[in-house]
Amino acid sequence: MARTRVAVLVSGRGSNLHALIAASAAPDYPAEIALVLSNNPASPGLDTARDAGIQAQAIDHRAHGRDRAAHEQAIDAALREADIGCVCLAGYMRLLTPLLTTRWAGRMLNIHPSLLPAFPGLQTHARALQAGVTLHGCTVHLVTERVDDGPILGQAAICVHPGDTPETLAARVLEQEHLLYPLALRRHLGGRAAGPREGVLLAV
Ligand code: GRF
Repeated sequence: MARTRVAVLVSGRGSNLHALIAASAAPDYPAEIALVLSNNPASPGLDTARDAGIQAQAIDHRAHGRDRAAHEQAIDAALREADIGCVCLAGYMRLLTPLLTTRWAGRMLNIHPSLLPAFPGLQTHARALQAGVTLHGCTVHLVTERVDDGPILGQAAICVHPGDTPETLAARVLEQEHLLYPLALRRHLGGRAAGPREGVLLAV
């Protein structure tokens, strides 16, 4: 089976990266995690990658000052150099410009900790509690130039319990992220349609 060479872009902890690496150990998984890039040289995700024998590279945005295009060019060059076919953003905390979103359109996924289109942006768990929702969760979607937007590939939902805090919600949603991302990537690379009825849905 030809496996797609996937790059994962991280900025921090890298637990979703870990879940993707673990899933890709299955012989029938359609992706090989071939490259990990971070804008943050201190990202633990880089160590996670190296420990797994995966090529890992920091491309520090601070080296490019305010020149977002130059930073994204460097990322794009690294992706091409490694013959990457698909990119997964996993806690990558930089806003992307059309330079990357256009070049990787249809081949760049993101995971977001809310049931989009609700709560794009930051502080999603606190905002969900504030809004009084009874269902919360996470979403894997294709990346477009609009932040936390783009066709939804899969979602996982959890119930909000009385007494939940942003921290308890974050922990339960993160468990679902680790299940959802590998499933959604598998489905995406399997080439099946990703309309709302055919996307991955986990509800717990
Ligand atoms: C996750 O909650 C993800 O949904 C969001 O950033 C967080 C990254 O966590 N985009 P990790 O680095 O994968 O542990």
